[in-house]
Amino acid sequence: MANLYNGKMAAIYDAMYQTFIDYEKEFNFYNNLIQGYQCKTVLEIGSGTGNLSQRFLATNTTYFGLDYSESMLAIAQEQNKKGIFLHGDMRDFKLEQPVDTILITGRSTSYLITNEDLHNTFQSIYKNLNKEGILIFDFIDANRFIPFTKDNSAILHEAPFEDLIYYRSSNWRTTTSETFLLEWSAQYYTFQNNKKEIIADDFSTVRVFTLNEIQLFLYLNKFEIIQTIDRKTYAFDTFVIIARKK
Ligand SMILES: C[S@@+](CC[C@H](N)C(=O)[O-])C[C@H]1O[C@@H](n2cnc3c(N)ncnc32)[C@H](O)[C@@H]1O
Repeated sequence: MANLYNGKMAAIYDAMYQTFIDYEKEFNFYNNLIQGYQCKTVLEIGSGTGNLSQRFLATNTTYFGLDYSESMLAIAQEQNKKGIFLHGDMRDFKLEQPVDTILITGRSTSYLITNEDLHNTFQSIYKNLNKEGILIFDFIDANRFIPFTKDNSAILHEAPFEDLIYYRSSNWRTTTSETFLLEWSAQYYTFQNNKKEIIADDFSTVRVFTLNEIQLFLYLNKFEIIQTIDRKTYAFDTFVIIARKK
């Protein structure tokens, strides 16, 4: 688990990502999909600090959030007092009642490092969906992201928040592992009085996928793909998959 989601970094994540991601647009995108499939109950996996939660909770949809990081959940709960947030691992979780749709948002699939992680996640999701339930998730496209990291050795993101500008300088190193794993080192800092103040150095291992790999994982776990959307997000080219439980 990346340090990014723990302790004080969770608050920094919340501040920075609100400038990277247009959560209103993100919500409309997912909400249109789930309304289109007439889903009434939704579980968001990787609900993070709850930026989509507050928007779902304002609709007629019954919404639950699930996340692995207690620090992220604490912020989500604080910002959404009436929301139901569950502490859990997408690779092994059990809801009290199955739901119509499960979303994995914000490229949280990147933390499914092994093939076993991916199988376990799709199996858990299968068990927690209603009959013909809908799974919607995004993932970083390996075919586009790996060349991008080769062409850009340091990737800088700038996030003005309140009276400060936060910076994140990222380096991505491709590993020689059997899956497409990248080692992501990121330094978070601000400039105050012309002085660089380092907030944190974060290191995590993340996985990117090819579309073919994902298609095969879904097939093996009894999901039928009904839509594939090629979607550019703030820093990554992603695919969004909509699949139905068979
Ligand atoms: C990139 S953040 C995305 C958060 C949110 N969806 C957003 O767009 O702001 C990834 C989230 O996935 C969560 N996460 C990572 N691995 C997880 C797992 N195995 N089970 C549940 N949540 C996980 C992290 O704690 C983090 O909140």
